[in-house]
Amino acid sequence: MIDIAPVLLDNDDFRLRRAWHPVARSADVGDRTYEVRLLGVPLSVMRTGRTGEPWRGHGQDADDAGQVELAAGNAYAVAERYGLIWVALEQPIAPIPDFPEWHDPTYHSEVLTRSTRVAAGIVIDNFLDVTHFSYLHRQSFGRARPVTDDGYRIIARGDFVQLEHDTVLQEGRRNADGGFGERRIATYTYWPPFICHLQMMFPGDGALAAATIVCQPESSDSTRVYVVVLIPRTDEGLDEQVEFSRRVLDEDLIIVSRMPDPRLCLTIRAEFHTRADRASVEMRRTLADFLDECGLAQSAQSLPEVVA
Ligand SMILES: [Fe+2]
Repeated sequence: MIDIAPVLLDNDDFRLRRAWHPVARSADVGDRTYEVRLLGVPLSVMRTGRTGEPWRGHGQDADDAGQVELAAGNAYAVAERYGLIWVALEQPIAPIPDFPEWHDPTYHSEVLTRSTRVAAGIVIDNFLDVTHFSYLHRQSFGRARPVTDDGYRIIARGDFVQLEHDTVLQEGRRNADGGFGERRIATYTYWPPFICHLQMMFPGDGALAAATIVCQPESSDSTRVYVVVLIPRTDEGLDEQVEFSRRVLDEDLIIVSRMPDPRLCLTIRAEFHTRADRASVEMRRTLADFLDECGLAQSAQSLPEVVA
């Protein structure tokens, strides 16, 4: 048997400086300094510019308007998007991805946040795991039967991973057709390093919802997790949807916080993966490639200039 030394990803890995990360909710940042940490680096964020205008709400991004600036720190760039303030400590190798519901005026949204000791990679990996519904979210999702790879389809394109998952939740609840259960068609799109956008469609009543999970790797022993909850404005249950998402996230964080090692293992062959775990495998491949690219960009930058 070959002994494979696992590669473990720490929250303060230097290569992550080449990526965009959230550092605060838009609503948290005003014209006074707001202290945050990113990859072990302390930063002060505040709104500068003429007005110091507070965040204006769903669909409003202020990164072009010069309303958000870092008051301190050596950040390369700052942006405001999706109700979050984003920072890159060095020139990012990829843009912040697009979440279509954010730009859709028929939607409204709210951001919830939580903290955990486990690494950002573990939180995202757990979010992509649909097989734990039956034992981790039995109460909240109403699913007791094991979730297999039925209705499970993966698309891996190199720079992102998409998982489509068609399943039944709330098994004990009567549906509009007189049967039991609520069918949910979910599309999870993962972008490295720590972003996953979940789009949900419930064919029973045509309801739509989306939730984006984004992690702020604060330091080696701390991650701040943000969930942007988005639903159509015609659905007045935004508060309930946020409460539901918070409950589900708490169920996840209780389990992951028990992990003895808080880091994500990037070595696929060092762990046991099943067929229903393909999203995790592809996520690790995509993340490892992304980190390699960040590392290459950093070493290219540090090379001395060739004098002709
Ligand atoms: Fe979960």
